[in-house]
Amino acid sequence: MKILGIETSCDDTCAALLDIKRGKFNVLKSIVASQANLHKKYGGVVPEVAARKHVETIIPVISEAIRQQRSKVDVIAIASGPGLISSLHVGVETAKALSLVWDVPLIKVNHIEAHIYSVLLSVGVRHASHLPFKFPAIALIVSGGHTELILMRDHGKYSLLGRTRDDAAGEAFDKSAKMLGLPYPGGPQISQHAQHGDPRKYDIPKPMIHEPGYEFSFSGMKNAIRLLIENFGTDAPLGRLSPDLCASIEQAIIDVLTNKSIKTIEHYKPKTFILAGGVSANKKLRKTLKYALPKSTQFLAPDIKFCMDNASMVAVAAYFHAKNKEYIPYHKLTANANWELV
Ligand code: KG4
Ligand code: ZN
Repeated sequence: MKILGIETSCDDTCAALLDIKRGKFNVLKSIVASQANLHKKYGGVVPEVAARKHVETIIPVISEAIRQQRSKVDVIAIASGPGLISSLHVGVETAKALSLVWDVPLIKVNHIEAHIYSVLLSVGVRHASHLPFKFPAIALIVSGGHTELILMRDHGKYSLLGRTRDDAAGEAFDKSAKMLGLPYPGGPQISQHAQHGDPRKYDIPKPMIHEPGYEFSFSGMKNAIRLLIENFGTDAPLGRLSPDLCASIEQAIIDVLTNKSIKTIEHYKPKTFILAGGVSANKKLRKTLKYALPKSTQFLAPDIKFCMDNASMVAVAAYFHAKNKEYIPYHKLTANANWELV
């Protein structure tokens, strides 16, 4: 089975071709046209700008993904939500048009579910019949738009344990970076600058860390960081101070994410813990969570190249829906900016 995945929910135009032969996943092509440079000057994603760029890029990106393919695509998988509505429309309408003219079935995939299934694209677990998900599983999805702890009792059976009340973890990285004059996306910038910094130098608040429940809140961090920067004064060379500040910010976010994750594990005793979403590319977060887990819980995270938005994860999630023939007629498909997985 060959699945063409399409993903345009935020600021990356993505298409991928996934081949599944005798239960083995093989990513033949995974194209990601990043718009990061375009949005850099605004310090974040501008929806209208993102959608216009998707319109320009979507056909060349799909054409590159299916180039050199002799046999036809069996399924088209489209991430139809959640995300920015104007961005989602571009991928969704393109997928519908292709489904119609190629006469190929269409599968809609939830973007969060796609992040969860991205862990199946990790080295060593590329075999569908040796699925590493042992249920119950808990997934921590951390990205620029989401911070959610999800309980997974089986494929497709999800319950929400907790989510952020305001900013997402990735947003906390991005906004802190912006205040420090570092370019978008801020997560990789902060973690790079943090490498030689002292993570305990600054006392960054860790909102809700000790509150019961599994909810998060990251918006309060911004003010504390702004005050710290103001206190440095204009004489303070931010470049010299930033390694310690970046390390302290990174540590505060990691401490909150780890603490809440461990709480869910103590309560639900999952067999698998899944870390996914753009922020899962953070090496310190991966390491901290992995070592904080009890030995009885297996830890899964995607290969670094599949952490950020991509279309391979959309295709791999679609495979499980394709097995059940959960197709959607093209005229019934619409983009859903607020599609809740749970
Ligand atoms: O999943 P993703 O590509 O897009 C959304 O669905 O939002 O996630 C992007 C987010 C950005 O906020 C970015 O700063 C963050 O992932 N990110 C990181 C790292 N790499 C990407 N955050 C922390 N450390 C990283 N190494
Ligand atoms: Zn994402």
